[in-house]
Amino acid sequence: MNSNTNLKFLFVCLGNICRSPLGEGILRSKIKFSNLNWEVESCGTSNEHEGEPPHEGSIKVAKKYNIDISKQVSKPFKKEYINKFDYIYVMDESNYQNVAYICGQSFNDKKVDLLLNLLDDVKDKNVPDPWYSETDEAFNKVFLLIDKACDKIIKKFK
Ligand code: 4NP
Repeated sequence: MNSNTNLKFLFVCLGNICRSPLGEGILRSKIKFSNLNWEVESCGTSNEHEGEPPHEGSIKVAKKYNIDISKQVSKPFKKEYINKFDYIYVMDESNYQNVAYICGQSFNDKKVDLLLNLLDDVKDKNVPDPWYSETDEAFNKVFLLIDKACDKIIKKFK
């Protein structure tokens, strides 16, 4: 085991039903594959979908790549997460603003970043929200973007 043991990662989107559950599922699968003991969770800045499973489009695309996210349950971001987690990756700029707002004085910009800032070759740093189109293609595109970023997380912190 290397020195970066027990790192805790959090993925954040708006509803915690489309994008961040994919982040959680994909990174968890890579953590397992790399035999690391890091932890990963996800949440949304809204509580509108609290208690719900991920969107069927996210469940379907994850399954296509042999990842089961169907047991995840949507939960809202809490202020104390800024201390609980080592790194918080948000899916878009509005999620970033919401996290900063919820944390108030406790916000720590060294821990929070746009997930796609990890990818130099991607111009738009917002992970598009497939909620609005709900096509298989949109969910697939989102999966591949998040997957690429999660490879970077493994490389960066391993
Ligand atoms: P997510 O997508 O933030 O990737 O989970 C959304 C899910 C639900 C809504 C918006 C975005 N909504 O408006 O209910």
